[in-house]
Amino acid sequence: MGSIHGSLKLIYGSSGEWRAKNVKKAILDLCNNKDKIWVPEDDYAVVNNLENLIEAITNKGDEGLPLIEAKRIDFGDGEFKVAIDNRISLRDSDVFYFLDIHTNDYSRLSKRVLESQIGLDTISGAKASRVTYVVPLFPYARQERRTGHEPQSARAMVRMYETLGADSIMTMDLHAPTITGFGTCMDFEHLKIRELFIDYIKKNIGEGDDIVLCAPDAGAGKITGYYVRNLNCELITGFKRRNLSSIDEIDIFDLPNIDCSGKKAIIIDDLISTGGTMLKAAKKLYMERGAEQVFAFATHPVMPGNAFNNFSNAYSEGYFHGLVVGDTVYRDPVGLKYKWFTTIDTSKRFAQAIIQKHIGGSVELLHYKDRT
Ligand code: R5P
Repeated sequence: MGSIHGSLKLIYGSSGEWRAKNVKKAILDLCNNKDKIWVPEDDYAVVNNLENLIEAITNKGDEGLPLIEAKRIDFGDGEFKVAIDNRISLRDSDVFYFLDIHTNDYSRLSKRVLESQIGLDTISGAKASRVTYVVPLFPYARQERRTGHEPQSARAMVRMYETLGADSIMTMDLHAPTITGFGTCMDFEHLKIRELFIDYIKKNIGEGDDIVLCAPDAGAGKITGYYVRNLNCELITGFKRRNLSSIDEIDIFDLPNIDCSGKKAIIIDDLISTGGTMLKAAKKLYMERGAEQVFAFATHPVMPGNAFNNFSNAYSEGYFHGLVVGDTVYRDPVGLKYKWFTTIDTSKRFAQAIIQKHIGGSVELLHYKDRT
């Protein structure tokens, strides 16, 4: 017996296998090192649920935490279905469904959105008691506002996921946290990468007066407060205006005239697309504000088209010194042998969150209790 939501099961779709396997491994590691899992000791139900989970995993090992494929089967006319082996029962289970929307193959992004939605229909139709869709980079999150005759696509996504049976979305560093309120009953588990980045910065770059933090635009400015407090450093916030007829182009970019000489500059943003924002900020910090070195940090390395080349060129030109990102966009690691590129593994963070959700603990408190 698992928690009141039934036994824990992980399901993956076509682009979710890699992440589901990593997170499963991290869950098994945590259950085998129980003292790394936070529980409120006076809450009998939570402690009991954790004991049940650990027992299932210890008694049955790998099989105590099933990892199930939701297979996409393509038809000749372009349609497809998502099917799970009929011999596997999902009834009354606590299901976590993995399918990444963003990978290096952007031509199939829309197909993956549809697959994730049809997959949810399959899972909820199989009578799982609770379904959480794990998607580190929520699709269409940058379209959370409506201007004129335009869609509010992030809200449309939330509505579709909710209608098709997701009880919850587990995601990381949403571009706009207001998206968490777009559903009627579906909730969000909104994880953050910030503790992992801060540990990395302290170990590898510095803190306090040795560094200066840069939010390249007002949006990024909203996430930098936690960094400034924990790194105890100065903050520079940039101004950016996009070209409305070509959304990937930046018309105006500027930074306040603050002297950064003798300091390492760290640019923080939630997402990198073309790299234009980061590289404009890097160039200004190094060439005009006198920063000694410039490092960029972003949770989601979307980076289509020429983005990797643009960073490589900036590295060769000498005004940019390193990019650190989360592993929230799947790419074949073989193609990622750049000196300037570092990926931070987030699977333990997702594993902790899944355990907390399953045992009825606290996902939010992870950001205070878990610094590893
Ligand atoms: C926008 O508000 C985001 O936070 C990023 O700054 C933006 O998406 C980055 O795009 P790009 O890399 O194309 O400049």
